[in-house]
Amino acid sequence: MKDLKDIFADAKNAAKVLAGVEREPANLPAGYVSPLVGDPNAIKWYRARRAMSFFAWDIYAGAAIQHYRATQPQSGVPLINSQGAFIGNLALELADRLEGEFLRCKEVPWRDQRPDGYSFDPLDQPWSTPAYRDQRMTHREMSIGMENVLNETLAAIAPSVEAALGHHWSAGAARLYAQNPGQDGGVHTDWWPLSLRKLMLYPSGAGVEQGSTVMVINDVGQIVTGGKGVWTIFENSTLSHMAAAPKAGQPPRPTVEITIMPAFRSDPKIKAHGINVGFPWLPPDIEGLEGKNVPNGFASEDIKHRSLLRCLMLALDLPDEAAIPEHYKGLGYLDI
Ligand SMILES: [Fe+2]
Repeated sequence: MKDLKDIFADAKNAAKVLAGVEREPANLPAGYVSPLVGDPNAIKWYRARRAMSFFAWDIYAGAAIQHYRATQPQSGVPLINSQGAFIGNLALELADRLEGEFLRCKEVPWRDQRPDGYSFDPLDQPWSTPAYRDQRMTHREMSIGMENVLNETLAAIAPSVEAALGHHWSAGAARLYAQNPGQDGGVHTDWWPLSLRKLMLYPSGAGVEQGSTVMVINDVGQIVTGGKGVWTIFENSTLSHMAAAPKAGQPPRPTVEITIMPAFRSDPKIKAHGINVGFPWLPPDIEGLEGKNVPNGFASEDIKHRSLLRCLMLALDLPDEAAIPEHYKGLGYLDI
């Protein structure tokens, strides 16, 4: 990544350069790792991007929760608040089809393939190398058949997910993988914005023998257990959890992971898929804000443009006020 000060100095092109930094090429070879990993400029950029993203999601989620309470005054305490996790089961016929489609999806080596607009992680962690990831799990490519049955599945469980969350929600991106035997993960939290959650579907079931997810709830480790099509939505950023691998001799454990976002109306269709899926930096409701009846400065591109420039200014050691080019005025940053 170019030096942040150089990007800042080229004020007219800064937003374009920054948007390009995060975009990966279309066809990524097996084992591809973003050049951002380990780059000191990218790490500064990432920290600012995260701070802005978490703030945007907090405000957006607060408004979405208020909206839900105002329009559904009969709704009680969200289950996810009282329990930290919610576990459900699919109808067997749907679970069978989901498993069949999953197993037909092509196995692919890990690569740093992120959906557009989703978070990246430039921190160089020993557990995030392609070789380590391929050893722990085998990823699969989303097929059209899988996407269809996945959307059908999400529509079927939508009321339960809404009741668990206590607000409307929208499905984000999905990732398909199977956890390999004997490859338990470490205990961790995901450190996403609090209002974004992970939904995990286990097409072939989950449990001690076949592998699952263990969550620490009230200091007690609890393992998700159930037959084909068991699923869970949980507080992945506050509950410690770990991947429990299948025991030796068991087959790999198929898993579908879906990013769940707060929303102003529930929309259970997945929006993207990838091999390295995090969370969208910004609430995607701003997409498609264009046209005559959008107030000046509020087209999607304007909002994204300003957010990129604010992140840049946050990531930099601030220059003197006098050195700030016109392009950075009006962002709320040294412009008075
Ligand atoms: Fe996790």
